Amino acid sequence: MKRSTFLRTCLAGAAGSALLPGLVHTTPANAAPLPGTGSTGLPGPNRPTLPGPGSAAWPPVDPHDERFWAFVRDQFPLSKERAYFNTGGLGASPYAVLDTVKGTMDQLELICETGRTDELWAEIKTDAGRLLGCSAKELAFVRNTTEGINIVACGLPWKDGDEVILTTHEHVGNTLTWLALAKSHGIVVRLFEPSTTSAGENLDRIKKLTGRRTRLISIPHAVTTTGLVLPVQEISAFAKSRGIWCFLDGAQTAGMFPFSLHDIGCDAYATSGHKWLLGPKETGLLYVREGMLQTITPRFVGAYSEGGFDLAKGTLAFHPTAQRYEYGTVSTPLRAGLGAAVKFIERIGIENVWKRDTELADHLVAGLREIPDIRLLSPESPSLRSAMTTFTHNRIPHLALQEHLTGYNLRTRSVTEGGLAALRISTHIYNSHDEVDRLLEGVRSAKP
Ligand SMILES: Cc1ncc(COP(=O)(O)O)c(C=O)c1O
Repeated sequence: MKRSTFLRTCLAGAAGSALLPGLVHTTPANAAPLPGTGSTGLPGPNRPTLPGPGSAAWPPVDPHDERFWAFVRDQFPLSKERAYFNTGGLGASPYAVLDTVKGTMDQLELICETGRTDELWAEIKTDAGRLLGCSAKELAFVRNTTEGINIVACGLPWKDGDEVILTTHEHVGNTLTWLALAKSHGIVVRLFEPSTTSAGENLDRIKKLTGRRTRLISIPHAVTTTGLVLPVQEISAFAKSRGIWCFLDGAQTAGMFPFSLHDIGCDAYATSGHKWLLGPKETGLLYVREGMLQTITPRFVGAYSEGGFDLAKGTLAFHPTAQRYEYGTVSTPLRAGLGAAVKFIERIGIENVWKRDTELADHLVAGLREIPDIRLLSPESPSLRSAMTTFTHNRIPHLALQEHLTGYNLRTRSVTEGGLAALRISTHIYNSHDEVDRLLEGVRSAKP
């Protein structure tokens, strides 16, 4: 069998119909469920039989029908006992993704091959490019957003004294890279406090920081602390007009709402597969605009980075696409799982994902507004908000409140970046209105 045909058969079989019957791993019937997975557990005796996202057996997609979202919820092994509100930290994967990873791994181990094919890589990147609004050639697989940021930061041509603009609310992933470059290359980091009330104000604050030495604006598409969505199209246009590069930390946006990187016009963007995209852990994508491939030099290189080389002559041409940033042997099962995650999101439709995520966030915000002593730190305006809602309690320290909510089986995320001391709630497609009510009840019941 041709390698590519083998892989395709593997992936098709990953949801259960084994290519080689009897050789695909199943958990023994008496295996104990993993801690915290409740009665559903991971694949085992209670494992439901599910139609995959490619199946005609899916119910009609209707974002206004709770039965549809209950069906979506059942696609996840994620425990129903604990309401999980930390997609901004780590997204849960549906069975379709897990089965693809495990099935591909099982099948590849039978023949001890990497399973990497150009066709498979192109298929996954084409699907991801459709979701992100870019071409497959502009995407490189990375392990996480942080790796993507590092590739961009280390690949740009810096001069001592060059300035980079960041917000004061960066995740550590878009912080350490620049502090490290400040140490090694003498770049200067300049910061602005992101406004949660006005998109125009954020652009103005960036403009005020921009000077003769500004080389790069490196900002989050959605800010990790408050969920604020920055006016990235306007910021990219401004950067372009001043000959400044614009990089977006997209950890919190891919898989949450629809957008097009080409329309935004940024130079590069990095995201994680393991957050809103619901892909396997340790997956990510780096977008580099075609016209920037020459400017961001690959620093970690090896097999697959090249477009031709000659050791004797000492010549090397990088791969003509963003594949130049990939190197060496990697996990095909994880990348195939990321492909399955994109297909899963597309089966629901990214517009419908966004509708659901914001509907739940709106429910949460409305409920929080009714609770005395709660202060919302996320933007008031829906046009600036994402599916991450952040708040504090005027009389209860955030960690004490988090502990109280943990007692209610509610997983929240504490926020300390940007000097905040708050809790962040992510609402994604596996969450429900009942869970939001549980959270509100938990907050209401907290006593100082
Ligand atoms: C804005 C932002 N950037 C970067 C990261 C880092 O993501 P990863 O650990 O997948 O690299 C996160 C994670 O929460 C984030 O919120």
